[in-house]
Amino acid sequence: MTSQQSGQTRTCLNYINGNWVPAQSREAFESRNPSDWQELVATAPQSDETDVKTAIAAARSAYDSWRLVTAPARADIVHRIGELLLARKEELAQLMSREMGKVLIEARGDVQEGIDCAFYYAGEGRRMFGHTTPSELKNKFAMTLRVPIGVCALITPWNFPVAIPCWKALPAMVCGNTIIFKPAKDVPACATLLTEIFAEAGVPKGVFNLVHGTGKSVGRALTELPGIDLVSFTGSSQTGSEVAAICGRTYKRVSLEMGGKNAQIVMADADLDLALDGALWGAFGTTGQRCTATSRLILHRDIKETFTAKLLAQTQRLRLGAAIDPQTDVGPLVNADQLERVTYYLEVAHQEGVKILTGGKPAKGDGLDHGYFFEPTILDGVDPDMRVAQEEIFGPVVALIEVDSFEAAIAILNNSHYGLSSAIYTQNVNHAFQAMRDIEAGITYINGPTIGAEVHLPFGGVKATGNGHREAGAAALDIFSEWKTVYVDFSGQLQRAQIDNR
Ligand code: UN1
Repeated sequence: MTSQQSGQTRTCLNYINGNWVPAQSREAFESRNPSDWQELVATAPQSDETDVKTAIAAARSAYDSWRLVTAPARADIVHRIGELLLARKEELAQLMSREMGKVLIEARGDVQEGIDCAFYYAGEGRRMFGHTTPSELKNKFAMTLRVPIGVCALITPWNFPVAIPCWKALPAMVCGNTIIFKPAKDVPACATLLTEIFAEAGVPKGVFNLVHGTGKSVGRALTELPGIDLVSFTGSSQTGSEVAAICGRTYKRVSLEMGGKNAQIVMADADLDLALDGALWGAFGTTGQRCTATSRLILHRDIKETFTAKLLAQTQRLRLGAAIDPQTDVGPLVNADQLERVTYYLEVAHQEGVKILTGGKPAKGDGLDHGYFFEPTILDGVDPDMRVAQEEIFGPVVALIEVDSFEAAIAILNNSHYGLSSAIYTQNVNHAFQAMRDIEAGITYINGPTIGAEVHLPFGGVKATGNGHREAGAAALDIFSEWKTVYVDFSGQLQRAQIDNR
């Protein structure tokens, strides 16, 4: 076994070439419960370049045989992963809730997203369709095949500790790649349990390797070292652009999922209660720590006052508390850095002259003293160009922006470096269709909140959110496989394209 349980604290190890091993440095870092930092959830190896090199050697060697296992056989293992995730859903959800502070109901959703993903990609093993198309020459056959890329480094965030690694690892595996997984340092225990499940499902040794550690050390080594063919990264736009620059220099394929500053528009003709439910869920679900979180509410002037009053009342009713407590609506932020970041943005809001309708500071008392809690916060009178309307805060903070027309609402929504998710609440079908066409974002919801993507549809964004790739669904196959074009000439003679047939 793997990560031995000592009381409540797990001792996590790296998983390289089918073996559970400590870091070469023998040093470890801690993972503490953000709802109560007195609880040590896990310790994990502080790995460095040496450990990454060992993992690269394992993944390279496993690739030789794994790429030749048939896709349906690889998919059978992915199916088994889905079954094991399902069987251990509650255990994973509880651990996640303790380790990174996601409320239990959402932690179950996170695991479910991994399960959905497993069953989706298990089916993909029997599809992975290529094309056949007529050749322009006689007695010649033309087709395309998907072939694997090689060794993939997966660098994942802490906010979806099961779903996001599954989004990346499962299509990568079905396509025939081998993997080195570098989870965020806030979630080593979740990553370890996930890896145990992969191993139990029968993933052959070397195909899936886990290396714990920091982005600066392990993440950087994964982007810089030779022997890795692809880096799939989810995280901040700043880090993502560094990853892309290094991968550019080292000739690695790179797919990036980065920041967002997602907006929900509420038009005057919207069903206001529906829009309110959407706004509360989108802004404060996962304590605002989703790439897809609603951080701007663009409100039509005719309903702004009514809507804001309802939003304020509902927000003040949200119960803050330990993530593991089923009564809790909003859990803590993940760590001290995040608390500092959100607190900093409230200072920025003050400086920018924004009105704070509710919240605005770390929450204390009532059992919250040992956690990274921040009060759900509404900023009013926000100008679309202010920093609080432009920069990703990643916390329970939503900015209200007033508009007087549909056109202005779309223009303000699009006035962002980012373009991940978006939403509009309206009963005007013409506006709904114009929004689908004109919003600059990878995902648009009509009469639904900005969060809630499903695994069989493409996920990703435009502008500084991504680099043109889409995760999830069949679109992810385009990240984790190359197209190979094959021509078969059965004419028995040299045929020159563009020449002999003209
Ligand atoms: C993320 O925050 O990076 O649509 C992923 C959603 C989730 C995935 C979010 N299904 O909010």
